Amino acid sequence: MDDSPQTLIDEAAALLDAATDANSLANAKARFLGKDGLLTARLKALGSLSPEARSVQGKALNQIKQAIEAKLALRQKALEQAELDARLSQESIDVTLPGRGAGRGGLHPVTLTIERVEAIFRSIGFDVADGPEIEQDFFNFTALNTPDNHPARSMHDTFYIEGDDDTGRPLLLRTHTSPMQIRYARMHSPPIKVIAPGKTYRVDSDATHSPMFHQVEGMWIDEDVSFADLKNVYTEFLRRFFERDDIDVRFRPSYFPFTEPSAEIDMRFPDGPLAGRWLEVSGSGQVHPNVVRNIGLDPERYIGFAFGSGIERLAMLRYGVGDLRLFYDNDLRFLEQFKD
Ligand code: FA5
Ligand code: MG
Repeated sequence: MDDSPQTLIDEAAALLDAATDANSLANAKARFLGKDGLLTARLKALGSLSPEARSVQGKALNQIKQAIEAKLALRQKALEQAELDARLSQESIDVTLPGRGAGRGGLHPVTLTIERVEAIFRSIGFDVADGPEIEQDFFNFTALNTPDNHPARSMHDTFYIEGDDDTGRPLLLRTHTSPMQIRYARMHSPPIKVIAPGKTYRVDSDATHSPMFHQVEGMWIDEDVSFADLKNVYTEFLRRFFERDDIDVRFRPSYFPFTEPSAEIDMRFPDGPLAGRWLEVSGSGQVHPNVVRNIGLDPERYIGFAFGSGIERLAMLRYGVGDLRLFYDNDLRFLEQFKD
């Protein structure tokens, strides 16, 4: 190896330039400045020189060392920058890609339907109430003029809950929203004008029946609320709900223990896929005197009507859905279609 300082610097520069990563750079550095490095060996050898020679040689070696260190620092910076550039280009973001985005969720069609029903009834002066889904036998049946062993109970088979109510009887999942007639009317004085939407349960399952479904109960009691008022209010509700005036509405005589007279409410559209077909949307009737008594009012003085409508049925008709179980399959392709 040539001993001249410039040769050493050139050699170091060449090696440092050839280093392509942190590892080869560290090796190049060690070759000159390491414990057994070329420069280190010469610095160690200074000790054996005469003072004059040591001073001259020492200065020269120091300059070499500084030159190599400067070169090393430059190279280190360059390599770091190159590494950063490489990473940035690899990790680059394609800003033209569509966002993965947290798309805004929407309300379930059954919820949309409940909100729509609430808005309409509020606008004609009805209060909106909420009640328990786990209900006492008393409110679900007995207070609604449906004593034990009444045949109407067999049409409302349901799910019973362990534990008992105040009277020592089992609790049950309510089979209709009608218990809210009793609960609400006992806590308010006439005029009683309320709707109570919510979940109900029965041992049912087919295209128009699900084991869990929603009803909306309605009740209006005052001194002179007649069956004619029921017809007016409900017909007006349907027209507003479906946003058309040409719906036929029929009150078909029926039976419920808690109303007398009673009627199923059927409706039909004059056109569209369901044209001309009568469809039942609700039960209804004039509140039975025994029920008026059970809520603590005098049936000689107070009279009114009640109805209980199927929310899924209203949603099916509004959205043209043929099978109500689709509402509960949680298939987003289906659910995303409903926007009000
Ligand atoms: C009743 O439940 C009465 N409580 C309604 C009532 C209230 C009458 C107040 C008089 C006064 P019904 O069993 O017919 O009645 O049910 C009412 C509506 O709930 C039906 O017209 C239907 O729209 C809906 N419905 C009943 N069972 C199911 C079910 N399994 N799945 C979906 N909807 C149902
Ligand atoms: Mg019915």
